[in-house]
Amino acid sequence: IPLISCLLPSFQERLYSPIWNLLQNAAKEAQQRGWHLYLVGGAVRDLLLAPGNQTLLLQDIDLVVDGFHRAADVGAGVELASKLREIYPQVRLSVHGEFQTAALIWHKDPELGSLMIDIATARTEFYPYPAANPQVEASSIRQDLYRRDFTINALAVRLTSPKEGELLDFFGGVEDLRSHQIKVLHANSFIEDPTRIYRAVRFAVRLGFKIEPLTEEYIRYAIESGVYEKLRLENHPAPALTTRLRAELNYILEASYWKPALQLLSHLGALRPLHSQLVLTGELWWEIRCVSRWLRYLDPDHHVSHWLIRLEILIASLKTEERIKIASNLQLPKDSIERLENLDSMEKTIKSALPNCQKVSEFVLLLRQYKIQILIIVGVRSDKSIRHIIWQYLTQWSKTQALLNGNDLKAMGYKPSPKFKEILDQLLIATLDQKIETKQEAVDFVKTIDN
Ligand code: CTP
Repeated sequence: IPLISCLLPSFQERLYSPIWNLLQNAAKEAQQRGWHLYLVGGAVRDLLLAPGNQTLLLQDIDLVVDGFHRAADVGAGVELASKLREIYPQVRLSVHGEFQTAALIWHKDPELGSLMIDIATARTEFYPYPAANPQVEASSIRQDLYRRDFTINALAVRLTSPKEGELLDFFGGVEDLRSHQIKVLHANSFIEDPTRIYRAVRFAVRLGFKIEPLTEEYIRYAIESGVYEKLRLENHPAPALTTRLRAELNYILEASYWKPALQLLSHLGALRPLHSQLVLTGELWWEIRCVSRWLRYLDPDHHVSHWLIRLEILIASLKTEERIKIASNLQLPKDSIERLENLDSMEKTIKSALPNCQKVSEFVLLLRQYKIQILIIVGVRSDKSIRHIIWQYLTQWSKTQALLNGNDLKAMGYKPSPKFKEILDQLLIATLDQKIETKQEAVDFVKTIDN
């Protein structure tokens, strides 16, 4: 029996009013067609968790339509979304036919900001084989909620009348919100969807909750059952699954709480679904923290993707063939796959050539052939002396500039030509090796090399 309480008045107060109006419009349209409309998932969870006086700026809203009498109504979610687009013509509508869901996307809208609303038709999912894509058929809201990951994410608020504002809590989600528990709805949850292991960890760390003991047992059982091994060794792992897995890894490794999340994943043995030999050893844990410190210092504005480099360091701990397999299975970006593919050879070149360099310019000429991402990865995986040189290069030497620029050369009477680059390079080398220290010395230097 669902716990029923009227939440709408408090939601109205706490939702940003244009979003509230939008939900009201959606409810009105559903009502006119004799359907029920529910707010479900993360938005309900976050509204219940947020302190009472706080206005919640939702950016991601999930709605479910239910209560049909005709077979044609299975497309209700899509129909409702199309109707809303008539009211909000600036919105982008995208329809995922297979799952009968529609997404409405506002991008930097003056009123609604950036907002995404998913509208699904209430559905039961049945899994023809573990970890496969769910197949969809129209069904009731209870069943729709039952297929969800955790009790705290399986709450719904009815937006249509009668009884608008009712909170539907079939599975004890409110109690679990109170007692700070991440709990699945049934024993097969992690077998059906391995990404839920990562979600359990993410919510536990983000919300400061505990994974409920039986749920933890289900996680361990799913990992030990070998279901993921089969999936990984298949020639064509389901792309939809790997996309979701990558999204979860992205979420976790990008978040401010990535360290406790990664430790919890490792404690649960949950890195193994990625690769059976992936273990967070003391050394790897040190490397990934070191990478993060380097990134924080060298790239505070996030020009490179920090989560991806953290993932690459994890993958780099595997053998080369395995690295490539897992990087391409996860559909990582091309440059990331290339880095992992060429890591061995680049590492070998750098590690064997660096000890032969003596002058600063020699280090620079060698290291400037590589991008910052690869230098960071190679740096933290090397011994102290090489790591120190790469750090010196990244923090100081790579920033050194020649004491004159192209304009200075023009002012000295040189005509722009390919020779410019050569002169400037020689100037840079002389500056790095501290042969010249002032602009005047640089001018004299140019005159000598030109003779
Ligand atoms: N869901 C699920 N299993 C998954 C992914 C999602 O059951 N593997 C359900 C949950 O009910 C979840 C909802 O779909 O609440 C929406 O998913 P998503 O937007 O990914 O998560 P949120 O709960 O909204 O969390 P977040 O705040 O991190 O976006």
